[in-house]
Amino acid sequence: MAGDYDLVVVANRLPVDRVEEADGTTSWRRSPGGLVTALEPVMQREDGAWIGWAGTHGEPPEPFDAVGVRCVPVGLSADEVEDYYEGFSNGTLWPLYHDVIVAPTYHRRWWEAYVRVNERFAQAAAEQAAEGATVWVQDYQLQLVPRMLRRRRPDLRIGFFNHIPFPPFEIFAQLPWRGAILDGLLGADLVGFQRPADASNFLRACRRAIALPARQSLVRLPDEGGRQVRAASFPISIDAAALDEMARREDIQERAREIRRDLGDPQYVLLGVDRLDYTKGILHRLKAFEELLSDGRIQVGEAALVQVATPSRERVEQYVQLRQDVEVTVGRINGTYAEIGKTPVQYLHHSYGREEMAALFLAADVMLVTSLRDGMNLVAKEYVASRYDERGALVLSEFTGAADELGQAIMVNPHDIDGLKDAVVRALHMSPREAARRMRAMRRRVREHDVQRWAATFLEALERPGAENTEIDLT
Ligand code: ADP
Ligand code: G6P
Repeated sequence: MAGDYDLVVVANRLPVDRVEEADGTTSWRRSPGGLVTALEPVMQREDGAWIGWAGTHGEPPEPFDAVGVRCVPVGLSADEVEDYYEGFSNGTLWPLYHDVIVAPTYHRRWWEAYVRVNERFAQAAAEQAAEGATVWVQDYQLQLVPRMLRRRRPDLRIGFFNHIPFPPFEIFAQLPWRGAILDGLLGADLVGFQRPADASNFLRACRRAIALPARQSLVRLPDEGGRQVRAASFPISIDAAALDEMARREDIQERAREIRRDLGDPQYVLLGVDRLDYTKGILHRLKAFEELLSDGRIQVGEAALVQVATPSRERVEQYVQLRQDVEVTVGRINGTYAEIGKTPVQYLHHSYGREEMAALFLAADVMLVTSLRDGMNLVAKEYVASRYDERGALVLSEFTGAADELGQAIMVNPHDIDGLKDAVVRALHMSPREAARRMRAMRRRVREHDVQRWAATFLEALERPGAENTEIDLT
């Protein structure tokens, strides 16, 4: 039986998480991560439904409205949180798709849970979507949903967008279930990626792993009457205008000044903002900063590094390890270099609201984005969108999707610690004129290619099956 919605988004997470308070009541908190940051403003303008998990195990709540979006929860049991979410999604796929920075783990039990939970999301989408509706499936946690949904509802138009990188075939080939994953994705009419390189990795995997004819951006499915699936890149973005507007507010600017004062009014404020994830290169960044202090190229009190790291996937082994390593490193740097009233690294293991984030961006002379691999990295775009004053410098890893678009950033290879140190020093000493020229160019790019344009481009491409090339140009 068809549902009521002409547009249905299916993502592992809802835009809000259910939080059980100490007094037994429940409240809702904005979910972490770039997927929610990007999709929330899109869905606030659309009259659609967002299907996802509410972040706790047990019976799902009834459908509800939050942050201006219709939310339809899918439930996960405690075992499924462990096997599907922490296990297959974040212990197998996440490291595999991020250049195997840590070793992926392959467990058949995790895979079985992944299949089962993907069926549940597909069923929920089939129930919510109106006849002939568009269903837009999001990210690596749900790669089997397009195929499962097409079986249930061949009338639908199905799109899939992968927010993280798609790995080269030589790495993807490790996955024992690689054929099933590709077949799952090929249930869609359009499969979108962040970068052209991700789309071509996917097309190559279709040729190599399951011997399908893939030409330019199209895969042909001989067993389905020659149905064609398109794969192309659609670099995701942010609500740039909203952030620009927020950063211009007097109260946000006052808060930015207050942050600098509270840091002891150093000459330079450096900032890192990430989920606490090993893909983000936080330890590389700290190492570079520590060496700059020990080399005497920067002085305590002259520069302060603020590292905001949202807790993430806290029961997954490699995340537990990373948290310990970061805490030890920060402790060592501060223990060695701090003086009374001068703390070189401010480490904040919290999540903050959007306004506080905007103030932090405005307070920072240098933004450090040093990911070892990152699908896009929206933080880089947020920094740029906040700097209406055309001040500040962005140090950006070349291994982010954002590097394809923000060519005026100071590019770094975060593995090259000497190069990273030089880049930081260059950013600190950049003339206001050069900083403004670079910032202007990056701001133009982010303003013109905002998240509304991303969504409109994807959804338009999904409506036009068979069109040759949907890659958006990166000029
Ligand atoms: P990812 O999706 O891998 O987490 P992105 O950089 O693409 O990385 O997106 C992260 C999003 O989460 C951004 O919108 C960023 O502002 C937000 N964010 C990251 N850390 C924090 C924090 N400590 N408090 C609030 N928001 C945060
Ligand atoms: C990245 C992923 C998202 C995910 C987010 C937060 O942005 O692409 O799919 O939601 O990280 O991670 P979490 O595991 O907390 O959902």
